[in-house]
Amino acid sequence: MFNARITGTGSYLPEKIVSNKDFESILDTSDEWIYARTGIKQRHVIAPHETTSSMAEIAANNALQAAGVDASEIDLIIVGTSTPDRVFPSTACLLQNKLGTGDCVAFDVQAACSGFIYGLGIANQFIKAGGAKKALIIGAEANSRIMNYEDRTTCVIFGDGAGAVVVEASEETGILSTHMNSDGQYQDLLYVNNPIKDQKQDGAQAYMTMHGNDVYKVAVKTLSRIVDETLEANGMVKSDVDWLIPHQANIRIINSVAKKLKMPMDKVVVTIAEQGNTSAASVPLALDKAVRDGRIKPGETVLMEAFGGGFVWGSALVTM
Ligand code: COA
Repeated sequence: MFNARITGTGSYLPEKIVSNKDFESILDTSDEWIYARTGIKQRHVIAPHETTSSMAEIAANNALQAAGVDASEIDLIIVGTSTPDRVFPSTACLLQNKLGTGDCVAFDVQAACSGFIYGLGIANQFIKAGGAKKALIIGAEANSRIMNYEDRTTCVIFGDGAGAVVVEASEETGILSTHMNSDGQYQDLLYVNNPIKDQKQDGAQAYMTMHGNDVYKVAVKTLSRIVDETLEANGMVKSDVDWLIPHQANIRIINSVAKKLKMPMDKVVVTIAEQGNTSAASVPLALDKAVRDGRIKPGETVLMEAFGGGFVWGSALVTM
């Protein structure tokens, strides 16, 4: 049986940046409020000609290049997204066409902010079961397209972008374990209404709604618990983890999970100030940043975790 190993990472952020100050003229909000409550200073926003699949394409090509893998070798593509270009075909199919991989398994995972972790977990199972040898896992989101820019409780928080990894079958150690979970009882705390159903109503569009404070409380509890569960499953202790890559939802949530792990903040990859919350893209974007700037080195142990609408949450413990 092979292990599944991350052999390359890549990412993409749209050029346009919207700062907290930019919101002050259109909303009853302030740079001070946004930064103090979330840790966010700015976010990237997709251009009109761009789509989730076009961002995913750039991130995927960067990851392929880093892995030294040609697109034609890829036999599995999983895109974690809640903002697909189309209802169907999947963004993964559109991406497959853009990359020119040839025939392969390609599908989207809709697990909100945990979409990338779910994708990584599924790819891990595929590879260990012999169903794939070289996989592309992407988290990509055009969150600005599901924002209500009159709702200050959501639109200041989310940003756009894409992150990708190549995962290959390997005899070396790689993904140590992945954990996925969900609890649908929280469906009304964080959701996007259904544009297919709602378009029959006059002028209805798909927008995100979040009861932030209630989400916050469950997120802190759940993410702290999953850290313990992940380490326990691997017979490891907190000090065995070299890097924490948390979902970038709120700096206060990140701080409390790091504290629980007894992890100094210089061992936690934090991108939220520059990128906001990019949902499924946030973990692979942060991973790529820390790999490319030389912080994360081969052989180091990385704990990734995410939490999002559903609720749906997950983690991955990985030797790079
Ligand atoms: N600017 C100014 N004031 C704002 C605001 C904004 N952008 N957004 C909300 N407020 C106001 C609220 O209306 C409320 O006012 P009120 O007291 O008069 O009713 C007040 O600020 C406090 O709101 P609250 O929602 O309690 O703030 P908070 O400290 O919980 O921070 C979040 C809000 C969204 C930043 C925070 O709850 C959060 O990060 N939640 C978790 C998000 C998450 O993890 N999501 C899961 C993955 S996507």
